[in-house]
Amino acid sequence: ALTTELGRPPQLREVAGVPLQAATVDNWSQIQNFEANSDDLLISTYPKSGTTWIQEIVDMIEQNGDVEKCRRAIIQHRHPFIEWARPPQPSARNAKDCMVSYYHFQRMNQMLPDPGTWEEYYETFISGKVGWGSWFDHVKGWWERKDRYQLLFLFYEDIKRDPKHEIQKVMKFMGKNLDEKVLDTIVQETSFEKMKENPMTNRSTVPRSVLDQSISPFMRKGTVGDWKNHFTVAQNERFDEIYKKKMEGNPNFPNFCM
Ligand code: A3P
Repeated sequence: ALTTELGRPPQLREVAGVPLQAATVDNWSQIQNFEANSDDLLISTYPKSGTTWIQEIVDMIEQNGDVEKCRRAIIQHRHPFIEWARPPQPSARNAKDCMVSYYHFQRMNQMLPDPGTWEEYYETFISGKVGWGSWFDHVKGWWERKDRYQLLFLFYEDIKRDPKHEIQKVMKFMGKNLDEKVLDTIVQETSFEKMKENPMTNRSTVPRSVLDQSISPFMRKGTVGDWKNHFTVAQNERFDEIYKKKMEGNPNFPNFCM
């Protein structure tokens, strides 16, 4: 059976030690052999780091700020996920907020294993035994390659603090030049409040048997520092220790939550 009596898949399967969903593992060779065109743009985010947010920003830039065009389809169809072999679906976000967001996401996402209690999830997250693998490996992997490839590294926290400035960076990276007014529209339309109301971005079209938004909404809080409402003092201290060890050798990587 693919699912338990709760309707959840029993567990994730692994490719090279990275836990992934069954559909991804089954189609791995096809995914691995994908050949990109030189002008393809890959958005690479760790889960719960603001994937949907940067997808909407990129589409709005591509469509020159045309709100109606950006409503042509739900976000999962506008930017399909390369690892979802069936036709529909990585910016970095600080590890602690990511863990909180991922915990709530696993509570509501019936396609991922039940996260258990917060204490249990803490261990799972640290060990990297979550879908798409370890936050540390993901962030370090891309950070180490950022100067070797044509790669724009973005931080959720920066977009939050100064959206216009960061959106401008994305625009330049994409080789676009939009005027101030269009940029302001993009800033407005990609705000948390707007995207939470927008059926094309808030996943409200996904059936409840897949994403149960009554447990936790997909557009949950969209803030920086929610980890402070979840971590105990002891959990936080231990996390900082682990963080220091795991991020050794990446001296310039900004830590937004220490
Ligand atoms: P929270 O659970 O902390 O609210 P992903 O798209 O990678 O799954 O990431 C989801 C996280 O990004 C959620 O975080 C969600 O609320 C947040 N998010 C989505 N759109 C956002 C926006 N426009 N502004 C700020 N945060 C946003």
